[in-house]
Amino acid sequence: TVGNSTNIKWHECSVEKVDRQRLLDQKGCVIWVTGLSGSGKSTLACALNQMLYQKGKLCYILDGDNVRHGLNRDLSFKAEDRAENIRRVGEVAKLFADAGIICIASLISPYRTDRDACRSLLPEGDFVEVFMDVPLSVCEARDPKGLYKLARAGKIKGFTGIDDPYEPPLNCEISLGREGGTSPIEMAEKVVGYLDNKGYL
Ligand code: PPS
Repeated sequence: TVGNSTNIKWHECSVEKVDRQRLLDQKGCVIWVTGLSGSGKSTLACALNQMLYQKGKLCYILDGDNVRHGLNRDLSFKAEDRAENIRRVGEVAKLFADAGIICIASLISPYRTDRDACRSLLPEGDFVEVFMDVPLSVCEARDPKGLYKLARAGKIKGFTGIDDPYEPPLNCEISLGREGGTSPIEMAEKVVGYLDNKGYL
């Protein structure tokens, strides 16, 4: 039995991940970008995507806000739904990586156990956790969607950083944003440098 299903089996195919990777001249992996709302996750994801595209590398972004319009439209922001949101995106990201694509998943993903569960889906090294380490005060001052204001006024309940926890990574591969003044392009360069160094590009 797999999950809730019985009598299902895994199908193998003679075209494998290594073949797709050779075709694309890159290695599939998951860049998992975590951080508070307004910490710059989507901006980094976009800058990184552009930079890799210019290098001839195939990327695809899974953005929390966007995925919640479709695949995850049935999910709220209560803890168990956030966990399911992360789980599904983790599984989809794994499929993209298996396709040979560099998948950039950009979600608040506030709970450590949910992120670690996604990490455990992938071979060692193929999950690169990027922490947007931006203080709440900075994210709140930016407030690009006006959501912190609503959360402070009690009009949004369970908002991450206000009345719902954010658990920062303990051992992420890359931490960005602490220095302040670093542009999205410079941040993306750091990630590209990391991927290059590890042989993914
Ligand atoms: S999570 O926690 O990973 O499931 O969140 P995610 O799927 O990334 O969605 C985050 C975006 O949803 C908006 N939003 C909220 N965020 C946090 N808490 C609550 N209660 C909430 N309600 C709506 C918010 O715009 C987040 O956008 P980003 O892109 O992170 O700023």
